[in-house]
Amino acid sequence: MATGSRAQFSSRFGFLMAAAGSAVGVGNIWGFPTQAASNGGAVFLLVYLFMVFILAYPLLVAELTIGRYGQANPIKSIQSIWPKQKMAAAGLGIAGMVAVSMILSFYAIVAGWLLGSLLSSLFALIGLDAAAEWVNTFGTERNLVMMVIFMIMTVRVVKSGVTDGIERWSSRLMPVLFILFALLTVYILTLDGASEGLEMYLVPDFSHLSSDLVISAMGQAFFSLSLGVCAMMVYGSYLSKDTNIPKTAAQVALLDTGVAFGAGLLILPAMFVAQKNGVEIYDAAGALLSSDTLVFTVLPAMFDTMGTMGIVISILFFVLMLIAALTSSISMLEVPVSCATEELNKDRSTVVWWIGGIITLVSAVIIFNYADLFGLVITATTVYAQPILALIFALLVGWVWRRDQLLTEIKQGNPEIEDSLFWKIWPWYVRVVCPALIILVLIS
Ligand code: PFF
Repeated sequence: MATGSRAQFSSRFGFLMAAAGSAVGVGNIWGFPTQAASNGGAVFLLVYLFMVFILAYPLLVAELTIGRYGQANPIKSIQSIWPKQKMAAAGLGIAGMVAVSMILSFYAIVAGWLLGSLLSSLFALIGLDAAAEWVNTFGTERNLVMMVIFMIMTVRVVKSGVTDGIERWSSRLMPVLFILFALLTVYILTLDGASEGLEMYLVPDFSHLSSDLVISAMGQAFFSLSLGVCAMMVYGSYLSKDTNIPKTAAQVALLDTGVAFGAGLLILPAMFVAQKNGVEIYDAAGALLSSDTLVFTVLPAMFDTMGTMGIVISILFFVLMLIAALTSSISMLEVPVSCATEELNKDRSTVVWWIGGIITLVSAVIIFNYADLFGLVITATTVYAQPILALIFALLVGWVWRRDQLLTEIKQGNPEIEDSLFWKIWPWYVRVVCPALIILVLIS
């Protein structure tokens, strides 16, 4: 079904970095550790690992496979596996596109805060204290300016296309992220107070085990692997037919989980180091500070107590967070951009500015109505849209897609797969177990 002139990732490494780039993001470095910290540490970690490998990984294979089979934007790819219901298939593609655009509209706000924190450290380093204060203070104008800058960065990468934009930047930035991350974690672990954080993270407190915890862990796993909103589907559509999808998806899931786990080793000890330095990490009621307060208040306050070294470390930390956010946001923007360029037959550089502009406007509306909309959009997309769409994709792959076509597609790039356990389990697993598990968690 290849369309000939369509772009493709030029190497396996490039694809791996792009897909891991999409997966590794604010969700890993900010979301996962803080969820773990407030949900019983290791208990959350265990349930999360279970969710990633039992539920999210098989669905990641499914989404990548739909995309690679279709070799087209998500609307067409879904139509190609559901040719009898072209309208419904298009509706699903559009739903994914809208959901991912809404995710980008709040993600860009969070990324804007990260940019603000980074600029603040840079300004402080060169003595521009008033500017440092402004970019770091929560406020409508500051949020707006930072969000717009981040959206322009995202648009510029996506405008350059799959190989020269997405693949090139992901391949450059992701290795930098891994190195910075390892350096920071080792450094934090040497500081006074770190062991208390480690204990909270690694010693399970089973009293936290509840259905809420299971739902949070599932949502976190879907968000972290960028599932349900066609981002992985569109990356799969740029994959060559000789790529082994189950193996590559496993590498993406492992890298993503590795970074989430590592972020716990970084953030939880950092919280307690901050506490040792006089920074409050619990609120008046004795509960751990909420995640936004934690990363944007506690960590900078901790860096502040370390003098000039703290400024350097803080710059490293926020550069790392921004890299993670950018390699995720480009995968989000690519979904509507690929749909619009291919469906409307328009040129990428025009489309990307239009769609980037519309998402920026939506994001601005959220900023102006922050108290009402920010949490609402996060819940609507990550708690409802992602699991429900992922459930529908599993049902499509399991029940609607012609079995012979599905199996032939999975076998491409991996002719020996028929001897593997994956081959024996996966097809009925996505058909029965994945939908059942998602429904069970949603109902509970
Ligand atoms: N996986 C990203 C993170 O953990 O931050 C977020 C994300 C990227 C969600 C792409 C959805 C998506 F389509």
